[in-house]
Amino acid sequence: MQMMVNWNGELMPLEEARIPVFDHAYLYGDGLFEGIRIYNRQIFRLDDHLNRLYHGWRHLGFNETLAYEDLKQRVIDTAQKANAENAYIRISVSRGTGIGLDPRKIDQTPNVMIAITRLNLYPQELYETGVAVVTVSTRVMNPDALDPRLKTIGRYVSNIQAKVEANRQNAGEGLMLNAQGYVAEATGDNIFIVCDGEILTPPPAAGLLKGITRATAMELADQLGYVCREEWLTLHDVYAADEAFLTGTAAEIIPMVSLDHRPIGDGKPGTMTLRVMKAFREITSEAGVMVGAR
Ligand SMILES: Cc1ncc(COP(=O)(O)O)c(C=O)c1O
Repeated sequence: MQMMVNWNGELMPLEEARIPVFDHAYLYGDGLFEGIRIYNRQIFRLDDHLNRLYHGWRHLGFNETLAYEDLKQRVIDTAQKANAENAYIRISVSRGTGIGLDPRKIDQTPNVMIAITRLNLYPQELYETGVAVVTVSTRVMNPDALDPRLKTIGRYVSNIQAKVEANRQNAGEGLMLNAQGYVAEATGDNIFIVCDGEILTPPPAAGLLKGITRATAMELADQLGYVCREEWLTLHDVYAADEAFLTGTAAEIIPMVSLDHRPIGDGKPGTMTLRVMKAFREITSEAGVMVGAR
């Protein structure tokens, strides 16, 4: 695979890509992004990612200079040109280019970047042993400040702060609460717990990103015959849970085996978690939009 960038329709190797200094996402975080995986030359749930992106695009009032189908084709073409078999796609869309907050005073032609690269978040053995998680003091943003369904670039400053807090404690992830103290999500993943045989995950209204891997895990749990539902969760629920796992495009599905140095269940990946993970591995080797043959 060659690491490639498509910048506003122009394809180039990663090292040659340049972003304008006054790009509004670079200056103010005024942009949206998506991270998508390619498994065995198939782009996993591309339409779900693009729908989330376009919902944000409309919400933020970016000019829609690129039609959905054109962006979709551009993503597929870029992945094909990169000869991507198993890879990670990053799409970033900024409002435009120009200094000053006021969008009326900038060139509001969105900059659209597609990068094809690799991303391995955790060493393979952690998928067998599970991650240790700590609760961090950085809270998720209030939904009335920024709707949690918006995957904006600027929002991630607080997620990175949360990650730094978790790193300081040598934890694999940091768990973020909302302003009311309810469990929201990890810094780059959604959380699920198993409690009395049911799989529970907080609702988006708790201030979390409505993850596409989260939706996939919920569908798989359902197919496996498990009850899987949204529930407001407190730290007590997680401390008392029998199992827990995290979901995200980058992390995929990974067992969570402790929170704040308290083992979850017996401190090992749980049976239901392992079954959902297995089902996820099966579908990621088959489902999705084809990138094409070599
Ligand atoms: C804060 C946050 N929550 C959850 C997720 C998981 O979302 P998805 O499964 O769509 O990747 C991500 C991934 O980007 C994230 O950044």
